[in-house]
Amino acid sequence: MRLAGRKAVVTGAGGAMGKVFAQVLAKEGCDVAGLDVAADGLERFGAAVRETGRAALEVKADITDLDATENAIEEVRAAWGGIDILVNNAGGGMVRRFHEMTAAEWRQMVDVNLTSVFNVTRAVVPAMLERGGGRIVNISSIAALRGGRLVRHASGYVAAKAGVVGLTKALAIEYATDGITVNCIAPGAQRTPGRDGDTPEQREALLAQIPTRTLGSPEDLAESIVFFCLPSAAYLTGVILPQDGGHSI
Ligand SMILES: NC(=O)c1ccc[n+]([C@@H]2O[C@H](COP(=O)([O-])OP(=O)(O)OC[C@H]3O[C@@H](n4cnc5c(N)ncnc54)[C@H](O)[C@@H]3O)[C@@H](O)[C@H]2O)c1
Repeated sequence: MRLAGRKAVVTGAGGAMGKVFAQVLAKEGCDVAGLDVAADGLERFGAAVRETGRAALEVKADITDLDATENAIEEVRAAWGGIDILVNNAGGGMVRRFHEMTAAEWRQMVDVNLTSVFNVTRAVVPAMLERGGGRIVNISSIAALRGGRLVRHASGYVAAKAGVVGLTKALAIEYATDGITVNCIAPGAQRTPGRDGDTPEQREALLAQIPTRTLGSPEDLAESIVFFCLPSAAYLTGVILPQDGGHSI
């Protein structure tokens, strides 16, 4: 219960990692509002949080839309009065040769992975300023750090996730005297259903690139999120943490 009584918002809470992040934050004492565009995922999120005895708030919203996002955060503020923690987790990739990508596909990558972070953070920061502080943890990817070499044919995703890294640093500076820390985790390949379609050859080739020869676990990433939210992490801001078994070295 290291975060007892905190109010947290997790985006993409219905997804593979978001559900785990929400449940681990709840186990540490947070009530968690989950934002997601997918209703079935939100149900799973709510059940996972309530299992811990904490309160869950399911908010269905497309966070690429600024108005929808502002309404969603208003709903959280009306229900809970304030927000202490924001985990910008929603996102997703696309494999496409760069010269074959349409303008709409490019915009989709930027909207889902970067504009969503702008929309939600912009809506949440006033609540944190009112509270005298807060913790923001952004989920980028090793794709942002070593994208060209490690994550091939994903230029839209790579560019957007690199934008999340830049935004993290800019916001860390901008809110440093307001008690708001802004940090970022750049995960490597995770043990999530997104990898279930790998052929044995693809899996072997992937693991051969990773120094630990293992995939990462969302539960371990969640522990890093908790760490960034602890009172003792008040002096940690603007950190980009690669959690990837050494893949990005
Ligand atoms: N899984 C991995 O190996 C891995 C590695 C590095 C980084 N990441 C990043 O971690 C995050 C979570 O990944 P995941 O594997 O859990 O993905 P996922 O697809 O399981 O979950 C993503 C969630 O975001 C939601 N979402 C997408 N667009 C949305 C929108 N416009 N509005 C609201 N919700 C929206 C989806 O409905 C989904 O529930 C993503 O940002 C991803 O890029 C994942």
